[in-house]
Amino acid sequence: MDIEEFQLERLQSLWENEVEINLTESGVHPLTLRELMSDGEIQELLDLRLTYGWTNGSPGLRDAVRQYYPGTSRDQVLITCGSAEANFLAMWTLLEAGDEIALMLPNYMQIWGLARSLGVTVKPFHLRPKGDRWALDLDELEQAVTPKTKMIVVCHPNNPTGATLTVGEMDRIVELAESVDAWVYADEVYKGVELDGRERPSFFGRTDKVAVASGLSKALAHPGLRIGWLVGPEPLIADAWHRNDYTTITTSVLSEKVAEKVLEPDTRRRLLDRNRDMLRNNLDALVRWIAERSDRFSLIPPQAGGMAFMQYRYDIGSTELSTRLRQEKSVFVLPGDVYGMDHYLRLGIGETSDKLTRGLDALAQFCEGLS
Ligand SMILES: Cc1ncc(COP(=O)(O)O)c(C=O)c1O
Repeated sequence: MDIEEFQLERLQSLWENEVEINLTESGVHPLTLRELMSDGEIQELLDLRLTYGWTNGSPGLRDAVRQYYPGTSRDQVLITCGSAEANFLAMWTLLEAGDEIALMLPNYMQIWGLARSLGVTVKPFHLRPKGDRWALDLDELEQAVTPKTKMIVVCHPNNPTGATLTVGEMDRIVELAESVDAWVYADEVYKGVELDGRERPSFFGRTDKVAVASGLSKALAHPGLRIGWLVGPEPLIADAWHRNDYTTITTSVLSEKVAEKVLEPDTRRRLLDRNRDMLRNNLDALVRWIAERSDRFSLIPPQAGGMAFMQYRYDIGSTELSTRLRQEKSVFVLPGDVYGMDHYLRLGIGETSDKLTRGLDALAQFCEGLS
């Protein structure tokens, strides 16, 4: 089975640890264990026996997850190695060659590549700039959904634009899925750090054939734990668990214990408040930086998540710009090319403000050399 290169992840894998200033992260600056937990809680971890644990996730962690999806049973939750594994298992479980899906673009391109490698036809529908937001192209969505559509896939809040959907747009996606008996599949890993402080609703519970992926890597700032989850109807979760025996078997008991702590309501709220503050400050700084260069750069500000997707007006392709910036200034930003959108750059705004400022200074210097 062939699979095309996952350019976004490959580029990051190659360079994120080689540069001085990595601005390709889409989450928020992670905490240390000491910052997250009390001494007593850390002491308890020292006595944890390092067994396999439960391969579908410990009951404690599945309960911690399901409290955020009201009305779900424990058997509707599968704990995975990051939301990436949740996406993988869901696609592997639900799709087969010859199927057709409608998929939101731009998007984290994992499901795009996976579905195509499974022999699935992917029909895109876009978020498009409309005034001060990225809006769903409803006409294109309607055209992308056909009687053959097996699933409508969204990334919400969106990677890379940081866009959130209106309730009307969410309802239309659900209505269209129901009209052709398709699944709604939502990757919601950025949900929780909406910059206006209003957490957007989940797609979960809005229709029967719905599954969502999420995890601790982005809004909750703990990518190193590698904890994600898939939530859906019990038969789907049972089938995905059965396939999980062929992938990673299980996550780590140590990560699961720490994840339970992250998901305690008080801790989760504290983390999201901290993360939102960091993102707001950094976004303000970026917006000021852009305002000083408005003939060259523009941005529809993200509504959620740790990244800003800004457009530039220089006569240089985004891959070349990113490569030269990395080589000449040791600053790494993601080229819009990885989303098929040249003349855009994706900048992480979840970094420490010092790093972001130094990165932007370097980008400004680099661009002076272009003009
Ligand atoms: C939308 C989206 N889903 C999933 C992932 C994978 O993240 P993880 O496996 O760390 O949860 C990413 C990573 O950038 C992402 O942006």
